[in-house]
Order: sequence, then structure tokens, then C-alpha cells
Amino acid sequence: MRMATILARAGVGRDPATGAISTPIHQSSTFSHPRLGQSTGFDYSRTANPTRTALENVLAQLDGGARASAFSSGMAALDALFRLIPAGGANQVAATEDPYGGTVRLLEKFARPAGLIPVYLDTSDTAAVERKLAGGGVALLLAEFPSNPLLRVADIDALAKACRAAGALFAVDNTFLTPWLFRPLEHGADLALYSITKYLAGHNDVLAGALVSKTRELGDRVAFIQNAAGAVPGPQDCWLALRGLKTLAIRLERQQDNARKIAEFLAGHPRVTRTLYPGLPGDPGHKRLRDQSAGFGAMVSFEVEAKEMVQEILANVQVFSFAESLGGVESLITYPAVQTHADLPPPLRDRLGLNDRLLRLSIGIEDAEDLIADLARALG
Ligand SMILES: Cc1ncc(COP(=O)(O)O)c(C=O)c1O
Repeated sequence: MRMATILARAGVGRDPATGAISTPIHQSSTFSHPRLGQSTGFDYSRTANPTRTALENVLAQLDGGARASAFSSGMAALDALFRLIPAGGANQVAATEDPYGGTVRLLEKFARPAGLIPVYLDTSDTAAVERKLAGGGVALLLAEFPSNPLLRVADIDALAKACRAAGALFAVDNTFLTPWLFRPLEHGADLALYSITKYLAGHNDVLAGALVSKTRELGDRVAFIQNAAGAVPGPQDCWLALRGLKTLAIRLERQQDNARKIAEFLAGHPRVTRTLYPGLPGDPGHKRLRDQSAGFGAMVSFEVEAKEMVQEILANVQVFSFAESLGGVESLITYPAVQTHADLPPPLRDRLGLNDRLLRLSIGIEDAEDLIADLARALG
């Protein structure tokens, strides 16, 4: 089956007893055993729940993975990822230097005290990553693809090759593109990571995350952590994620079509000093992303000429909502320096140019003309 069909049929056929088209919400924490030593396959919902299993099976299928595990949030999935690193061996985690701020917070406040050493790299600079990996000591490379909010584009095949040579695990945070546009495991990654909260669920109404593993062995290790630490999504949340997945293809196509129009509008606006969208032919990541993915996604960042404008824009938008997060059907505008990326150390923020004039847009499925008119009004 092709991807649009897998998506539309997400969860269908899970209940042969009734034929229910919509996967039932199995709101049960525990399951009775037919006899001593026998199981229906479901014993206790932290370990497995039928609604969650339906979601995990679709996620594994979409990415071509051996096994997927769903978590209560994208952060819980990241936490499980870092727990994969065995104690006593290589202990460095190399990560994209402009990742979601929560990734840095988790690395600095929890992974570092637990003995891991975070190292931040421009993962779009393949040579720099190769040098770091060749130097030894890296247990895991985590690439955000594209990075957030600067939308820099890594060469995933090249990074996968360098990780293999160095014996490091390679995980791609594919939250922005989703399997509809890019499948990390087909490009050599060991794991694909998702904040399901974003495009996969797509309606700004549920928190969830996932790790999809390329091999059964890795998938079983992730599932062990999932069960042992217990950061699992409830059945209702899994159902919402399944329902969202069904329309991922049409949502994302519309969202990226809108994003291109908005990026073109911003690039021509006299008060906008920089527009970051890999879908623009002049963007540094354009060719690389075009060569690797089936689209450019629907995240657009832009810089205005003066910091004072930011407050005005955030106060005056009417179609965009001033809110954190991304990937839903409603367009959002975010101020990374004080919201999503406040946890990045200030010197790193300065070096990256992640300044207080930068705004990030998550483009939804509204009419592009309304979105453009809203921005035009707010920009003054
Ligand atoms: C790229 C990326 N990864 C991970 C996360 C964390 O996901 P969650 O908010 O579901 O915990 C986010 C959240 O914004 C994100 O943008």
C-alpha cells in the first residue's frame, strides 16, 4: 500500500469482532487472562494497550521501521532515546545546535548530570560532524531535520554513513517533515523521533511522541524503556493521534502550499530583513532538501527590521494565534527567543543569530490570502 492509503486506513480493522471502522478506545488499564500462563496479548496498559498498539503499528509501517513505541510527549520520546545509551562506554551526545529548546533543557539538566556529555554541532555542516564523529566518544547523533527555528538542512545520508563508521547511533527528529515528506530510516538513520503533538496528530489537541526503530533489537530496547519508565500516552490520546494521521497527507500538502506563498510574500516585504524557508529557491538548504525529501514542510521563520515591531505584530495578528507549538491546522506565530528557545544558552543563541527580531510561523490550512492579509496588516 502507498502512504496515503496507509494513512487513511490508520487503525482500520483493529476490531474484527464488531467491524468498527474507527479503532475503539480501549479505556482499560488491565486485561483479564484466559488461564494461568495465557494472555490475550494485552496484560497491562503500560506494557501494551490495543489502541496504542494500533497507533504504533501505523507509525512503524509509515517509516518502514521494525517497531515503533509511542510516548506521552515528544520530550518523553527524547528522554527514552537518551536512556538507550549504555553506561560505561562512549558518552557524548552530539545534537543539532539549533534544536527545539526542550531538547537542550533535557540534555543539560538531566542527561549531563546523569553522565552524558552534550555537544552541539551545525549538523548541516557535514564535514564538521564527520570530524567530530571520527574523533571518537560519540554514542549518539541527534539531528533535527530541518533544524528549528533556523531551518538548516543536513545531509542525512552522509551523516548516517559517518555514524556507521564511528559506531554511533543516529536518530533524526523528523517532527517537521513527517514520513509523508521524509523517511529517515530509508536514509540510514537508526531511529526516527516524533513529537506526534505536531503534524502527525495535527489539531493542537493532544500531546504524544514516538520513536520508530529500524531494527527489532533496537525497537525492543526502546519498548523496554517505555514499559520500565512508563511515559505512555493514554488510549484516548492514541485515538486522537490515529484520527489525525488519517488526514496527514492532505493537511501537509495544503500547509506547505500555503507556506510557500507566505514565504514569498515575506521575502518581498520591505520591513522583513530575512526569510527562512527551504522551499524558496534562494534558501541555502533548498537544493539539499529538494534532493532528499518530497517537500519543504510548512515552517517559515522571518526576521523583522526592529525588535519593537515584534510586540506590535504579536498583538495585531488575528488569523495567526500567538502560541507555542506547530503543525496543527491552525496557523501559529511564535517568538523563539522568549518561548520555544529560551533554554538555549545566550552565547549559543547569539552565535546562531537566533535574535529578538526572529519570529517563527507554523502555517495551517486556512486560505493563504487571509494569512497573507493578516501578516501584511500586522507588519504595518
Ligand atoms: C522538533 C521538536 N521535537 C520535539 C519536541 C517536543 O515535543 P512535545 O512538545 O510533544 O513534548 C518539539 C516540541 O515543540 C519539537 O518542536
